[in-house]
Amino acid sequence: MVRNIFLLLGIALLINHAVIAAPQPTKPSQCHCLPDEPCWPSESTWSAFNSAVGGNLIATTPVARECHDPYYDKAKCDAIKKGYHDGNWRRSLPGAMIETTWETFHGQGCLGVNQTVPCNQGAVSIYTVKATTIADVQTTIRFASEHNIRLTVKNTGHDFLGRSSAPSSINLWLSSMKGINITKDFIPDGAPQGTQGQGAIILKSGVIWDEAYKAANDSNVVVVGAAHYSVGAAGGYCLGGGHSPISPHLGLCVDNVLQFTMVTADGQVHIANSHKNEDLFWALRGGGPGFGVVVEAVYRTHPAFKNMIYARATISTNDTVSMDKIMRDFYSRHDAWSSQGWSAYVLGAQGLLVLQFVLPDATVEQAASSFNPFLDYARSLPAVTLSNVDIFTDSTYYSWFNRYAPMFDQTYAGVNTRISSRFLPQSLFQPDSLDLLSTTMKKVTGDIASISPAWAFFHLLIAGGQVKQGNSVETSVLPAWREALVLYISFVGWDDSTPYADQLTMAKKLTESTDALRAITPGAGTYQNEGDPSEPDWQQSFFGDNYPRLRALKNKYDPNSLFICRRCVGSEDWDEDLMCRQG
Ligand SMILES: Cc1cc2nc3c(=O)[nH]c(=O)nc-3n(C[C@H](O)[C@H](O)[C@H](O)COP(=O)(O)OP(=O)(O)OC[C@H]3O[C@@H](n4cnc5c(N)ncnc54)[C@H](O)[C@@H]3O)c2cc1C
Ligand SMILES: *[C@@H]1O[C@H](CO)[C@@H](O)[C@H](O)[C@H]1NC(C)=O
Ligand SMILES: *[C@@H]1O[C@H](CO)[C@@H](O)[C@H](O)[C@H]1NC(C)=O
Ligand SMILES: *[C@@H]1O[C@H](CO)[C@@H](O)[C@H](O)[C@H]1NC(C)=O
Ligand SMILES: *[C@@H]1O[C@H](CO)[C@@H](O)[C@H](O)[C@H]1NC(C)=O
Repeated sequence: MVRNIFLLLGIALLINHAVIAAPQPTKPSQCHCLPDEPCWPSESTWSAFNSAVGGNLIATTPVARECHDPYYDKAKCDAIKKGYHDGNWRRSLPGAMIETTWETFHGQGCLGVNQTVPCNQGAVSIYTVKATTIADVQTTIRFASEHNIRLTVKNTGHDFLGRSSAPSSINLWLSSMKGINITKDFIPDGAPQGTQGQGAIILKSGVIWDEAYKAANDSNVVVVGAAHYSVGAAGGYCLGGGHSPISPHLGLCVDNVLQFTMVTADGQVHIANSHKNEDLFWALRGGGPGFGVVVEAVYRTHPAFKNMIYARATISTNDTVSMDKIMRDFYSRHDAWSSQGWSAYVLGAQGLLVLQFVLPDATVEQAASSFNPFLDYARSLPAVTLSNVDIFTDSTYYSWFNRYAPMFDQTYAGVNTRISSRFLPQSLFQPDSLDLLSTTMKKVTGDIASISPAWAFFHLLIAGGQVKQGNSVETSVLPAWREALVLYISFVGWDDSTPYADQLTMAKKLTESTDALRAITPGAGTYQNEGDPSEPDWQQSFFGDNYPRLRALKNKYDPNSLFICRRCVGSEDWDEDLMCRQG
């Protein structure tokens, strides 16, 4: 509030503001320093900082800038047009997010390739440090802290809540920090004499899952990781929980962490495991981003599966009565599918259900006997068409992954989307709850469809089994994960030219569309990494009863909120834009 008034009244009051703030330089300011303020470092200070990080300081510009006047450059714009919806191209650029929504701020940004549309900095950081060493990470943390500049941390820019970008920030970009080591004998630092070594994969912070999976495959082991190849392996994914197609067999990512090495807000390097900094270790296994920067993660590896079954089918119908029956039958089979060890990635849209099912260590006959009856039921109904019906068997997890992952890797990048989500607990898939579940889901999908023609839902059967068991060791992940079977996520999208007011309306309606599900799933919460950026009562939904302890640990390890991010632990102390402290 105070900040806004200063901006409105202009320079005179800014000077006043500086005078008021000046006498207590060590006290954290109420607001982050902005580029037009006297507190912003001078050119020579930036230049010295650039030298201190090995010349890796980049003045960041929006990725599509050269397609817009007055920056238009034909050759560059042609390259931008080619790369705009390519996830690999986006990951190679400092200013890019996978979801362009998070490159904009209050509707201002530089979207699309229309030359006459204005280009603004939006939520693109002013500077990016392309870190290559732990020292770069430490130097950046100290610099941002000393100058009270908003700091963002990014590896892949996949985040659905915009936690890896912010306006007027320095972005600490980790994607160049590559390095993978697979060992049979990992012993956590500080473990007692005689501790048995165990199989582990050691990852630097810039590694993506495709790279980790390839290395694991080469060593004939598997590791719990994402279903999408460019999700970061050592960062936000696991800090928030980390689900996997093999989670029903091997648990969540947080259930498989052996050690993290991290740089905290004071610039110090800490090792966290079950023998050292146990409280930090607990917080990092589910408490989400905001406790520091992970520079190395160590995850348990498991023996390779004997094989992987991949069953798929696309069901289409314009007959709503048929679709209602299909959905009810679909839900009724979940308990059995889960106990048989399936995971499933199911995409729904108008008149469409795309099924992608995964089952390790099974025969095609076993898979067919539990998957096909559902298809047979769908086929028996009026006006239903099935296509892409296949059951594949692959000898390794990685060959399955390479068959599955390309299906959506190149399609979900450079888009404006918003999501909302909820866990569906196992109890909802029992016979006496199926009517309630079916009618509620019908209402929810109907509501989403009325928001935007670009809508879809993702229904992920990735919990149950070993996710339900959890780890014998306690983690800080939302406890409701252990009761869940399915993570339901709804998506709406819009064009680059959609007015900001309309975007806000769609986002609000999307959040409200999940209310019907919230009402029938008290305490179920949702997965923070795939959560609604406007989730009501988010502390409870994302963290549950772990919130108070996480909050206390946030104060211990990041007392000045250097790593503040949207809907992260402690963010309620800040205004909605996280630029000024409240009160
Ligand atoms: C296409 C797609 C597929 C997905 N598939 C899955 C899936 O199968 N399973 C699943 O569980 N989730 C999945 N997700 C969600 C995913 O977990 C989140 O998007 C997550 O935030 C990605 O983490 P990242 O580090 O790659 O992304 P980024 O956007 O780079 O970072 C996300 C958050 O983590 C922080 N962060 C990143 N690196 C570090 C680090 N080294 N130290 C400290 N903080 C760090 C950032 O500051 C930010 O707050 C998917 C997302 C997308 C877009
Ligand atoms: C580009 O944007 C302008 C408005 O700024 C609009 O009138 C025009 O139709 C757009 N061009 C295309 C090709 O979309
Ligand atoms: C891999 O990790 C193991 C166990 O920590 C260590 O002994 C080995 O030196 C590492 N190898 C490389 C190449 O870093
Ligand atoms: C995965 O490992 C198997 C051997 O276990 C090998 O045959 C295969 O080529 C590997 N896949 C890839 C894509 O490297
Ligand atoms: C549904 O309707 C659309 C348009 O009317 C048509 O193109 C499509 O083929 C129909 N789908 C089925 C499965 O009948």
